[in-house]
Amino acid sequence: MTLVLGIESSCDESAVALVTHDRRILAERIASQEDAHAPWGGIVPELAARAHADRLAPMLEALLAGAGITLDEVDAIAATAGPGLIGGVMVGLVTGKALALATGKPLWGINHLEGHALSPRLVDPDLAFPYLLLLVSGGHCQLIAVEGVGCYRRLATTIDDAAGEAFDKVAKMLGLGFPGGPAVERAAEAGDPDAVPLPRPLVGSGEPHFSFAGLKTAVLRTVEGGRHGAADIAASFQAAVTDCLVDRTAIAIRAMPEATALVVAGGVAANRTVRAGLEGVAARHGLPFLAPPARLCTDNAAMIAWAALERIAAGLSPEPDPQARPRWPLDPLAEPVRGAGVKA
Ligand code: KG4
Ligand code: ZN
Repeated sequence: MTLVLGIESSCDESAVALVTHDRRILAERIASQEDAHAPWGGIVPELAARAHADRLAPMLEALLAGAGITLDEVDAIAATAGPGLIGGVMVGLVTGKALALATGKPLWGINHLEGHALSPRLVDPDLAFPYLLLLVSGGHCQLIAVEGVGCYRRLATTIDDAAGEAFDKVAKMLGLGFPGGPAVERAAEAGDPDAVPLPRPLVGSGEPHFSFAGLKTAVLRTVEGGRHGAADIAASFQAAVTDCLVDRTAIAIRAMPEATALVVAGGVAANRTVRAGLEGVAARHGLPFLAPPARLCTDNAAMIAWAALERIAAGLSPEPDPQARPRWPLDPLAEPVRGAGVKA
């Protein structure tokens, strides 16, 4: 058996997990920092780094004690090395390095995006390469051809904001609180998705890239106009985002006829309207649709441990002395797109 200890700290979740090569999550702990950031209406990087530093060590102790496992029994340690908020990434990576040094176990510095990209295979042993991944979270909005472990081809990215970021900003405009995605989804339940005419940026364009800045501005104008209620605005915004995701994904599906499945990951994948839209576009193209359970869609440490297990199984070796990286594209050959540079 191969057992890996995973550590995740790139954004606002401190997380640790013990995962085996045969897809068993023996134990996991996750601490969200929502209460630390809620007063500020968004994530404050400095507060995030401090919270990770306070929480990770006791969480690790509780994880091992709860599972009845000692560090000696762990075969390798895997920590997120980027991309993300650099202070938090450093805290998690240094924690991993210290454990590796103390135990003599190998340390894997894992790309957080690779964790998301491979997480569906932790749930579904039958999911074969290559598959099409839509990664939609607060920091990322990308379509990726996942061709193998370490082989990623970026088909699309956002030219401005990530979809989750747009959800968070719209929630703030509507006074719905933080984190915004679930709040917008709840508000939208009582609203009419056709009530407010909103733009669908880039829909119909040949390249499958994303853009949400114009949509965000249109929502701001609508809120300022005062003619529509929060529920209708939330529902109309959610419908517009879904239309954008579906239209862009359809183009990527056509560009990747070899795909075995359409897979979605990231926090926005928890949204039921978004999920239904993506399920529909996969079905229309005869592709199986797969969305990991919400707790594996959002940031977690099991996916970081799993990415290391995939690398071990593929016969790869860990990079010696990995460094924390604020930016770390999955596909180093992907060209920057116009307007890019906001988020990884
Ligand atoms: O993957 P994640 O936990 O962290 C990042 O790597 O960003 O994603 C968090 C993002 C936030 O922007 C949050 O508002 C959004 O995912 N989100 C949602 C929902 N749940 C979380 N967006 C729309 N609907 C939801 N139900
Ligand atoms: Zn993430």
